[in-house]
Amino acid sequence: MEKTFLMVKPDGVQRGLIGEIISRFENKGYKLVSGKLMTVPRELAEQHYAEHKERPFFGELVDFITSGPVFAMIWEGEDVITTARQMMGKTKPSEAAPGTIRGDFGMTVGKNIIHGSDSPASAEREISLWFNKEEQSVYEKTI
Ligand code: CMP
Repeated sequence: MEKTFLMVKPDGVQRGLIGEIISRFENKGYKLVSGKLMTVPRELAEQHYAEHKERPFFGELVDFITSGPVFAMIWEGEDVITTARQMMGKTKPSEAAPGTIRGDFGMTVGKNIIHGSDSPASAEREISLWFNKEEQSVYEKTI
């Protein structure tokens, strides 16, 4: 079954949105496999956002993601990577549709509440970067 990496960013944690965000994915029917509140080491942030290394906002992005705790998660379910991206909404909150997480709560492109893997390859890379195997619960979701 497909898995994705989702992270409530420091702005989402500070605004008390962890529960709201978890509820949206639970209500949709996805299975929570892992979750942890953590302050991100700079090296991990730089590895996570390596594809943006040459962008002018890279330093700002790493400063922000290491500025306070994030809530990192793995969710599982059919087509969860694509569907989670739809539930998150577009990267720029001004373009994110109402009803999506960024559309409802995001204010700026830098502080846009949540990150989610954008492809199966990213999901695999990000899951192994943020979690070890022992942190991933294996259980049947029966209802
Ligand atoms: P995310 O999905 O976490 O992946 C890359 C992030 O870069 C993206 O969300 C945005 O928060 C951030 N980002 C994109 N464009 C800009 C920008 N112009 N200034 C600051 N951050 C940006």
